[in-house]
Amino acid sequence: MTESWPLALLDWYRAHARCLPWRNPPGQTLPADPDWPYRVWLSEIMLQQTTVEAATPYFQHFTRRWPSVVALAAADDAQVMQAWAGLGYYARARNLLACARAVVAEHGGRFPGSEAALRALPGIGDYTAAAVAAFGFGQDAVVIDGNVERVTSRMFAISQPLPAARPAIRAALAPNVPPGQAGDFAQGIMDLARRVCTPRSPRCLACPIAAACAARAAGNPEDFPVKAAKKPRPLRHGTAWWIEAGGQVLTMVRPARGLLGGMRALPSCDWAGPDAEPPIVGSWQALGVVRHGFTHFELELAVARLALPAPLPLDLPGAAWLAMDDLAGLPTVFQKAARLGLARQPGQTGAKEAA
Ligand code: ADE
Repeated sequence: MTESWPLALLDWYRAHARCLPWRNPPGQTLPADPDWPYRVWLSEIMLQQTTVEAATPYFQHFTRRWPSVVALAAADDAQVMQAWAGLGYYARARNLLACARAVVAEHGGRFPGSEAALRALPGIGDYTAAAVAAFGFGQDAVVIDGNVERVTSRMFAISQPLPAARPAIRAALAPNVPPGQAGDFAQGIMDLARRVCTPRSPRCLACPIAAACAARAAGNPEDFPVKAAKKPRPLRHGTAWWIEAGGQVLTMVRPARGLLGGMRALPSCDWAGPDAEPPIVGSWQALGVVRHGFTHFELELAVARLALPAPLPLDLPGAAWLAMDDLAGLPTVFQKAARLGLARQPGQTGAKEAA
């Protein structure tokens, strides 16, 4: 390689960049649109724990409905939570609103451009602050996500296990960020990581920076990054109650604090064990069990059904009867449960998924 590896990477990125709705095309000045950093921030929050493919339709829906951070800050909480349904990790949606409102209250409706001021906003950590500074404001930030960690740990054959290796990864990468092109550089590494420098079987023959890669020279790029052994996630059990009457289903709003806090959901026990007492006495029918992975545990959720002759009057705050074709706003775990209930309806085959 005659040029340095960061420049070779930028050349490759110019030729191969993915076109994404929140991305400035390589080599171009950032759009003058004052809401550009908003789009970058929104995409980055959505992309935490979510693939580009899954996040893209949500990004398009959100930016059409709430085209600016000021519009999002003024949105109704329940509508935002509902629009987020299906993306998972709902604390992100609550922080999204808190952050938009802080940008309006503390920064006059414009995102601040410095990493330190960004990091002080709700839901913005080191990675997101660097990404918004680089992709949204063109600053020379060092942007390191899991993909960048993989490529960097291979380039420099960093053998310390993650997460302890993070400072070493940053120290190795930072001096290589080309001034004025930090955004293209980071997004180039992200694209390379997804297309070429993949976790298993990296395609080193197609890699524009293979000549500078220490792990490739050692013949074992797939052994990086080294990861500390993971603890298995515990399995928890619970029950969701599908209570139906006249084509409607009983739903409630989960407590504001805690898992899926503030989300509309089927009534459910606290997931501490399989044998919870049903909320109403009646002739319950077991519908089956759905499985769902949360960050810190796996859940096996039994679903039980009770058909009532007519909807009960409700005096619990947040409780509501929802039409069975209006369940798309439920979090994914409850959509899975709802599918079992819907499968019992004449002529129905499954729950309508959120877009
Ligand atoms: N992941 C997080 N941010 C990204 C971006 N801007 N492009 C591609 N992948 C990403």
